[in-house]
Amino acid sequence: MRPHIALALIAAAALSQYCGEKGEQKNAASPKGVGPVKEVQIGATVDAAMASEGAKIFQTKCSACHETGARKVGPAMYEVTKRRAPEWIMNMILNPEEMTKVDPQAQELLATYLAQMTFQNVTQDDARKILEFFRDTDSKPLKTAK
Ligand code: HEC
Repeated sequence: MRPHIALALIAAAALSQYCGEKGEQKNAASPKGVGPVKEVQIGATVDAAMASEGAKIFQTKCSACHETGARKVGPAMYEVTKRRAPEWIMNMILNPEEMTKVDPQAQELLATYLAQMTFQNVTQDDARKILEFFRDTDSKPLKTAK
């Protein structure tokens, strides 16, 4: 192979590597995760009506794998609103399979829990109510949060 061709190949390989890394960095730099939720408005105080609807949806659709205060198939939900951005939580609920593929925090969870969370046929409105339920439990001590 002539030297300038070899050089061009090396340059191309370096460029594609550089682009790949840039892509990963973009994900790593986004605490909002990936999915339909780009921005969510949350109130200064918890909306009790929304939280109680969220609690019912959580009971029906999530409690097979999650508890508030203890690890089950997936992580304990307590203080999730302190660990993650609200948008991240909703994207995890609405788009778990892509999240565990491309979001660094979700990838880490998958590596720990070794089970794939699946989409539970919830609407964006349901996910918002579940978020409010998490905000409510996280505003109280764990003993009374259940
Ligand atoms: C089939 C079991 C299963 C179901 C059902 C399930 N999850 Fe998960 N969930 C997991 C697992 C396992 C993880 C860790 C990520 C992974 O491995 O996919 C997770 C992760 C999460 C996280 C991130 C927790 C953290 O510490 O950051 C949230 C939030 C979450 N789930 C909410 C929900 C909600 C809300 C529902 C109901 C709509 C739900 N999950 C239904 C298994 C499940």
